Amino acid sequence: MKPIRIAPSLLASDFSRLRDEIQRVEAGGADWLHVDVMDGHFVPNLTVGPVVVEWIRRVTRLPLDVHLMVTGPEQFAPVFADAGADSITFQAEAVAREGAAERTPQGFVLRRADYDSRRLEAVVEAVRSRGKGLGVAINPGTPAGVLDFLDRVDLILAMTVWPGFGGQKFIESVVPKIGELRRRAPGVDLEVDGGLNEQTIRRAAGAGANVIVAGTGTFRAPDAAAAIAALRRGAEEAHGL
Ligand code: DX5
Ligand code: ZN
Repeated sequence: MKPIRIAPSLLASDFSRLRDEIQRVEAGGADWLHVDVMDGHFVPNLTVGPVVVEWIRRVTRLPLDVHLMVTGPEQFAPVFADAGADSITFQAEAVAREGAAERTPQGFVLRRADYDSRRLEAVVEAVRSRGKGLGVAINPGTPAGVLDFLDRVDLILAMTVWPGFGGQKFIESVVPKIGELRRRAPGVDLEVDGGLNEQTIRRAAGAGANVIVAGTGTFRAPDAAAAIAALRRGAEEAHGL
């Protein structure tokens, strides 16, 4: 099993004190820092651009795990990689062939492997040519089967909420999909994102996840270090460690 990584999501931090907030989770034992990039189109929210990532890069040694919830990942992957991301995770629905991903009230769903190969290859090339880690994310409604290029990525992100906002409830029905992805890709980092806390982490890690994103569960906890340690313990126990 791949090592457990706890990745606090900056979305739940106090943005008026970003450096202090980052240092708080770094000192508290975080492994990675998760940065949510939203464009107001792929998801109904806007967050940070590359200039923020450039400044974050200067104040921490933690690997920056950049999650692109944007419609044009081929445009933004190179920009965020150059800004200092260590890994770039794009949404599979965002590189679907025109019209192949369905826009539902909760978010995009892709039901079969039907990609715009020019855009997919552009993302892969932008990330690989810069020596960064490459991840692919799928929304809760997108089945694991659409990911027919798992041998080309370092990380798979199974969204456990519909992306767009922090503080949502973990979607339990995603758990079997986490197990399916772990069986299909035993050697990759398998990340979960959304609604992770001391209880739900046991479900996600028990199904095979090893990278745990938590925003509310870390930055909004009374003691971030204790929260990170408790998440790690929960994941370790679920892995039988
Ligand atoms: C959701 C984002 C998550 C979010 C998780 O759209 O991708 O990274 O920050 O937040 P919590 O841990 O609060 O559910
Ligand atoms: Zn995220």
